[in-house]
Amino acid sequence: MVNSRNRIVAYVGLLVLVGGGALAYPSASMWWRIQSLPPAVDRDVLYTTEVQPILEENCYECHGDERRKGGLNLDTREMLLRGGKTGPVIEDGDSASSGLIHRVGGIEGDRPMPPSNKPQLTSEQIAVLRAWIDQGLHWRAPE
Ligand code: HEC
Repeated sequence: MVNSRNRIVAYVGLLVLVGGGALAYPSASMWWRIQSLPPAVDRDVLYTTEVQPILEENCYECHGDERRKGGLNLDTREMLLRGGKTGPVIEDGDSASSGLIHRVGGIEGDRPMPPSNKPQLTSEQIAVLRAWIDQGLHWRAPE
């Protein structure tokens, strides 16, 4: 009796441990996917000459000039920080945790940005966007 009760307690304990672990690390596979992203470029990036052209060419069609597909608009820093219909898409200073980077890196579900029928960003472009977020999301060239 005692033995089988102990076994049940052990099973329940194991379930709680495994279940709790799964809840605590729902994104273990996401962690691996984040490691596969191109790392940020190792230099200061400029919004006007490097970042803005990437957004203009690849994103403004749906997220610029007051367009806001998915609730997201990239016209101003404030709008970008506000995020889209699912909430913030930028973790300021932390590109690895930024939903926007997960989308352009194609690691968030099967919904890459730009949508898969459009040309995808190159590794170099993702690396520039990552550095831009890591460096504090400067919006204008220093004057
Ligand atoms: C052809 C239109 C189109 C282009 C181009 C496009 N997007 Fe999107 N984007 C959408 C649509 C539609 C949604 C909402 C559906 C979804 O989340 O997949 C969306 C959603 C998003 C979201 C999630 C917003 C939220 O809160 O759910 C992010 C982040 C995003 N886009 C970033 C970008 C970036 C960055 C670019 C350029 C590199 C880009 N998109 C290019 C159409 C586009």
